[in-house]
Amino acid sequence: MPRVIVLDNLSQDGLNLLESAGNIETEVRTGLKGEELRKALLEFDGAVCRSGVKITAEALEGNTRLKAIVRAGVGTDNIDKKAATRQGIVVMNTPGGNTISTAEQTIALMLALSRNVAPAYQSLVEGRWDRKKYMGAQLAGKTLGIVGLGRIGQAVAVRAKALEMKLLGYDPYLSSHRAKELGIETYSSAREMLPHVDYLTVHTPLNDETRNLIDHKEVKMLRKGARLINCARGGIYNEKALAEGLGSGQLGGVALDVYSCEPCTDSPLFGMPGVLCTPHLGASTEEAQTNVAVEAAGLLIDFFTTGAIKQSVNMSPLDPKTLASLRGYLNVAYRLGLLLAQVDHCPPNSCRLHYQGEVAKKDTGLLSAAFAAGLLENALDTEVNIVNAGMLLAERGIELVEERSSDIRDFSSLITAEVASDKRTSIAAGTLFGSNMPRLVQKGNFRLESSLDGVLLLFEHHDTPGVIGRVGSIFGAHHINIAQMTVGRGSSEPGGGAVGVLALDSQPPAEALAEVLALDEIKRAHVVNLPPTDELPAWTGK
Ligand code: NAD
Ligand code: MLT
Repeated sequence: MPRVIVLDNLSQDGLNLLESAGNIETEVRTGLKGEELRKALLEFDGAVCRSGVKITAEALEGNTRLKAIVRAGVGTDNIDKKAATRQGIVVMNTPGGNTISTAEQTIALMLALSRNVAPAYQSLVEGRWDRKKYMGAQLAGKTLGIVGLGRIGQAVAVRAKALEMKLLGYDPYLSSHRAKELGIETYSSAREMLPHVDYLTVHTPLNDETRNLIDHKEVKMLRKGARLINCARGGIYNEKALAEGLGSGQLGGVALDVYSCEPCTDSPLFGMPGVLCTPHLGASTEEAQTNVAVEAAGLLIDFFTTGAIKQSVNMSPLDPKTLASLRGYLNVAYRLGLLLAQVDHCPPNSCRLHYQGEVAKKDTGLLSAAFAAGLLENALDTEVNIVNAGMLLAERGIELVEERSSDIRDFSSLITAEVASDKRTSIAAGTLFGSNMPRLVQKGNFRLESSLDGVLLLFEHHDTPGVIGRVGSIFGAHHINIAQMTVGRGSSEPGGGAVGVLALDSQPPAEALAEVLALDEIKRAHVVNLPPTDELPAWTGK
């Protein structure tokens, strides 16, 4: 009989469901860490957790028994998924079950902060009747800025609209028509939105782009007296910058449910006037915990009785044969998605994928999903893979259309991807050399031939003598080695538009890119980071 360990507090309904399955033995052991956790995991076939336990690579070391970990909740940042995948452990989550509760917590904090609920009650407890001190602010008519408009961000928007707030938002993956439906005025960056908001709330994952999204500089960009709420992940707001902003009077209030280091029992913010904090309670409602626990238990029961893998964040449920036959082109499509996500930061409205030649005869639905996975990979908290990517695009109102033609032109197979936003349409085409060498063969309207891995500088320029040399000298001056270079131009005649791609041996500093952009001949330039050619996402079955 498979044995399942419950590592964090789980709602009784979930535990009852596991018990009632009759073919699973369950044991609850919370608060484990370090060697104790590693040893405990060796005795089980499955595990359920929330965000408390940290399932690190060390915790999984030497474990050949564990087959599945289910996270009752959204964020799987407490599980080392690479290590799990390497060891063949399926990681699943239950997104959606706590969306409403977390959105409600956000609204609750925003209201309580505005009406001084916590300190006013405390004053009564201390025997004071202080009506003047706790003058509040009304939400109706105020402007709320929402960064991150996925499941929770959108649920907050709907609720804030009902409170008669004006909504501004930024999410690089929300289409303009979905934003319109929600009544949100969108901005092309979070920073651009800051000077216009009275309240700011964030609902993004914590990643390199969102870490310290609100730092000392950004606090100064906000309206004086702005109030900030974070029910997503600690670290998106720099807590020191918040304390300084409150101290100077630049910020009117700060409400946090999450912290850069958890559990957090000591913070410079605790006790400051205008601060309201809760200990990661966004999903702590009977309803949300029942939802996620029951869903998590169901996932484990299905897994151990039928072998079904649902809601996996690290594995594809496809059979290994199909994956092997498609792997090279999945890699091309995925890299085109990654590349286009980094060259245009406007929210896409639609994607068009054109499959030409041999590749058009393959399962292009999977290839399009691989493209979508690349396009969304760095944006979502949810792990994107070929199973969920199409659904995640649709949820954001981004249309994806496919075209196929069997005629063979310059390449036996060609995948051309177009991403259209309100501002522009970005195009890139790729093919496969051999069985595992993805190549970029078109950028915009320019033909070229470049690798599709590592650090690339893509620049559009006016084709005049000396421009390539000047770009090269800038990187030389910054001690960045150029490994490869390719140029493509619109026509056989010099003097028109052209595109260049430099493969760099290391990440260039922002100053180098700024110097390239300052050259008269350069129209546009972007640094794009792609994984090494043979580093494929776990969902390719590699
Ligand atoms: P989601 O994946 O549905 O939405 C995240 C959104 O953030 C996406 O639409 C994405 O496009 C957007 N995004 C990504 N990078 C961005 C950037 N740099 N700028 C602007 N937008 C960006 O996730 P969700 O279910 O809505 O969860 C949101 C966050 O809330 C996650 O961090 C999750 O872990 C956290 N969460 C916290 C609690 C809690 O108890 N406090 C409960 C549930 C979820
Ligand atoms: C989540 O990511 O689901 C939340 O942070 C809630 C939790 O930790 O349970």
